[in-house]
Amino acid sequence: MRDMSEPSPASTSPEAAFGPVTPYRDATCGELRAADAGREVRIAGWVHRRRDYGGLIFIDLRDRYGLTQIVINESEAPEASEVANGVRIEFVLEVRGTVARRLAGTENSKLATGDIEVQARSVEILSESQTPPFYINEPDAPVDESLRLRYRYLDIRRKPLLDRLLLRSELVRAIRETHHRAGFVEIETPILLKSTPEGARDFIVPSRLQPGSVYALPQSPQQLKQLLMVAGMDRYFQIARCFRDEDLRGDRQPEFTQLDLEMSFVTEQRVMDFVEAMIVEVSRAVVPDRPIAQLPFPRIDYHDAIERYGSDKPDLRFGMELVDLAAALAGPGADPDSTGFRVFDETIAARGRIKAIAAPGMGDASRSQIDELVAFARRYGAKGLAHVSVNPDGTGHSPIAKFLGDERIAAIVKAAAAKSGDLVLIVADAEADLVADVLGRLRQELGLRLGLADLNVLAYCWVYHFPMYKWDSDRGRWDATHNPFSGVVPEDEKLLVTASGDPYRPTRQDPAGKARAMQYDIALNGWELGGGSVRIHRRELLERSFALQGYSLEQMHELFGGILEAFDFGAPPHGGIAMGIDRWAALFSHQTNIREVMAFPKTQSGTDLMLGAPSEPEPEQYSELGLRFVGLEPGSGKAGQS
Ligand code: AMO
Repeated sequence: MRDMSEPSPASTSPEAAFGPVTPYRDATCGELRAADAGREVRIAGWVHRRRDYGGLIFIDLRDRYGLTQIVINESEAPEASEVANGVRIEFVLEVRGTVARRLAGTENSKLATGDIEVQARSVEILSESQTPPFYINEPDAPVDESLRLRYRYLDIRRKPLLDRLLLRSELVRAIRETHHRAGFVEIETPILLKSTPEGARDFIVPSRLQPGSVYALPQSPQQLKQLLMVAGMDRYFQIARCFRDEDLRGDRQPEFTQLDLEMSFVTEQRVMDFVEAMIVEVSRAVVPDRPIAQLPFPRIDYHDAIERYGSDKPDLRFGMELVDLAAALAGPGADPDSTGFRVFDETIAARGRIKAIAAPGMGDASRSQIDELVAFARRYGAKGLAHVSVNPDGTGHSPIAKFLGDERIAAIVKAAAAKSGDLVLIVADAEADLVADVLGRLRQELGLRLGLADLNVLAYCWVYHFPMYKWDSDRGRWDATHNPFSGVVPEDEKLLVTASGDPYRPTRQDPAGKARAMQYDIALNGWELGGGSVRIHRRELLERSFALQGYSLEQMHELFGGILEAFDFGAPPHGGIAMGIDRWAALFSHQTNIREVMAFPKTQSGTDLMLGAPSEPEPEQYSELGLRFVGLEPGSGKAGQS
C-alpha cells in the first residue's frame, strides 16, 4: 500500500516539490530512458492500449508527459497479472516495477521511452473507466465535433488538443516573460463592469444588491487600462478575458482572451516598435521552426492595403495583388467612355471601380469551376465576375471579348501582369469598397486553394491610419471604425468638425469623414490578430469625437463620465493594443477555428455542451433578483408580453 504518511518531498526542497514525484509515482510516463534500466519505479497514468498475449500482458500507460510500456508476466507477477486481466482502456493505474531495456529489435524509435519497458511487480487500479465514446488512442480518427465538446476532458486526453493547449500555455508564458522584462506591470481589471462599447452586444449580469441594475461583462478592458495610464502606471499588460455577444465564426467566441497592453508617453511608432519586437521574441520562443516572412514587418497604409489586397488584414504569404483596369480599358479603342461592354460602361459612368486579380495556372478552369467562382463573388455582393483566360501564347480569350475587342483584352492581360495559363478575374461595381472586398476574398480563397501560401511562414504586417469614422446612415452618425477612444492623426485634428458647425448634428458631408485615426492593426496570414491606437487624452477633443459618434452630452456622461472626469486630472499621452491570444495560438498551431486552442469553448450557438450552459435560472434566483421571464416575440429577440 501507498504510505500517505511518508514525508512529502515538498518538505525537502522546492525542486522536489516542483517535480513530478508524488506518493503515487516517482517518474512520469514520459521520462524513463535506457539509462534508467534497473531502477525500481512507481508510475501512474491512463491505460492507452492493452495487448494480451496469454501469460504476457502489455499496457501502454499514458499521462500528459508521454507513454511507457508496461509488461506484466503472469509467471513472475501472478497477482499483478490478475489485476491486469481486468483492466480496460482509460482505467487509471499505479504500477510498480523495474525499468528494463527492451529486447534488441523491439525498441520503438517513435517513442521517447521506446528503448525501455517497465516490468511490473504490482498493478493497482486507482480508477475504472467506461468505454470512452471515441478512441483516445487514435488521435487522427475523425470524431463528431459535438461529441468532442460534450466530452472535452476526453478530447484533451488526445494528443492533438493536448499539444495545442501546451503550446498555448507556452505562448502565454512567453508573453508574460517578455512584458515583465520590458518593465510592464500585470494588473487585473474587473469582470463585473459597465458597458464598454467595442461594437458588439454586452453580456449583462443582474445585481442582487442593486435591484433593477445590471453589470456588463467587459468587451475589453479599454477604459480601465486608460485609467491606469492616468494613474501613472506607465506600462500595463493583462491576459484579459473579454466577452462579446456577437455571431460566432471560426475566429470568434463569445468569451475569449486578449493580450491587452497600454503604454504612456508614446507615439504610434513607439507602440508598434515595442509590439513588433515582442511578437518576434514570442514567435521565436514558441514556434522556433516557423520563419517570419519579413523583418521589420511591412507597415501598410490602410488605403494601400485595400487598394492592393482588398483587405485590411492582407495575407502577405503570396502576391496576387489587385490591379485597377481603368487605364487599360480607357486606352485602346476610339471612345474612352465606352468599352463596348455595358457593365463596365455603367461602372465608369457611376465613377465606380473595375479591378482584377490574376489567378496563376487557372486559365484552363472548367465552366463549373468558373460558375463556382461567380457564385462566390455573388455571395459577397458582386453583381457578376468577368474573366479572361490567358492562352499559351500570352493572348487572352474571354466571353466578353466580343464586346471589348482583342486590343482591350490584351490590355487587361498586360495590366493584370497575367502569364500564359493564368485566369484574370474582374469585378466592376459603382461601390469601390465592394469591388475591393470581393476581390480581396477571392484572392485569399484562391491563394490558399492554389497552394500559393507557404503554410509554415508567419507573415505579420501592420496596417495603419484607418479612417477615424464610418458613416452610419441608419442612425445618422459617424461610428468609430475601430475604437471610440482612438486618437486622430495630428494633421487631421482640424477635420473633427461637422459641416453645420453644430457638433451634435453630424451629417455625411462632415470633414470628419476624411480624418485618419492613429489606429494600427496587426495581421498574420490573413487574420486580424490585434488592433490598437494612440488615444485621445484631452477631454475637449474626446468630447468632440464622441459628439460626432452621435452621443449627446448626457449620454457621454452616462457612458464615459468616469474617463472624461479622469482626463481633468492630468492624463498622459498614451496608446496600446490588444491581441487575440486564441487567434495567435490557432495560427501558431495551423488551426482555422479558435475552438481548437481553447480548453472549454462554446458551440456555434454559444452553448457549453459539457456543463449545459446557458441554463434557466432557479426560481429563487429570479425572485432574489426581482426578475421575471416574459418570453420572446417569436424570431424577434425582443421581450414579449407576459
Ligand atoms: P479589438 O476589438 O480590435 O480591440 O480586439 C482586439 C483583438 O481581440 C481579438 N478578438 C476576438 N477573438 C476571439 N473572439 C472574439 N469574439 C474576438 N473579438 C476580438 C482579435 C482582435 O484583433 N480595446 C481594443 C484594443 C485597443 O485599442 O487597445 C479592442 O478590444 O484578435
